[in-house]
Amino acid sequence: MIKLSPRLASVAALAGSGKSVVDMGTDHGYLPVYFAQNGLFDRIAASDINPGPLDSARASARVYGVYDRIGFHLSDGLKSVPGEFETVVIAGMGGETMVDIIAACPWAGSARLILQPQSKVDKLTEYLGSAGFVCESARLCLDAGKLYLAFAARIGEGGFDLIGALLDSRDGLLGVCLKKETDRIKKAIAGMERGEHPDAAGTGALKAKLKRLENILKETEKWQN
Ligand SMILES: C[S@@+](CC[C@H](N)C(=O)[O-])C[C@H]1O[C@@H](n2cnc3c(N)ncnc32)[C@H](O)[C@@H]1O
Repeated sequence: MIKLSPRLASVAALAGSGKSVVDMGTDHGYLPVYFAQNGLFDRIAASDINPGPLDSARASARVYGVYDRIGFHLSDGLKSVPGEFETVVIAGMGGETMVDIIAACPWAGSARLILQPQSKVDKLTEYLGSAGFVCESARLCLDAGKLYLAFAARIGEGGFDLIGALLDSRDGLLGVCLKKETDRIKKAIAGMERGEHPDAAGTGALKAKLKRLENILKETEKWQN
């Protein structure tokens, strides 16, 4: 049986099980192999924009004896993946690429999205909020000393509240994540204040965000200690 890394295991845990799943930008194909070996989805697809990674996914599926259980598709985003899927997994990519892929998919609004962005999380969550998605659940994990975030999104009411989802799950790594984010925001504010073209509104918005996150950080310190 395939053993997933902590990062991919957190993505698989969020995906759960169901009727159909596509792993978009699959590369090595470990997630579809895991879904197939564990009988988690009735229909499983693996897609990638590049032939090399898709061949790696095919090779993994052969090695683990699940080649016939997975559909393989060469596709830019979900454009050439046939049919619709209940669950769409997109992991290990930048947040902006994810936005492009989701925005170009006409049926994304009826799917449950499992996303593990490597960068530009703000851009991705802003887009998801503006497109009417809510954050259903979220997880943090440490993999080889690096902090990773993954979350599940679907269309719903109430806005996209990633921190709220992490608080709800009492995620033990939330304090580490918030500390990293508050340090990043402090640096950004200092950079803006040093800059030649002051942006009072932009700095003000960042300061408000920083205050909110610092208050949450204080709260998490109470229940984490
Ligand atoms: C860093 S790998 C991540 C692999 C795997 N999802 C993971 O999390 O370990 C990114 C993969 O996404 C693919 N990719 C990048 N942009 C894509 C797009 N627009 N459509 C489909 N696949 C894409 C790349 O070819 C590459 O195989």
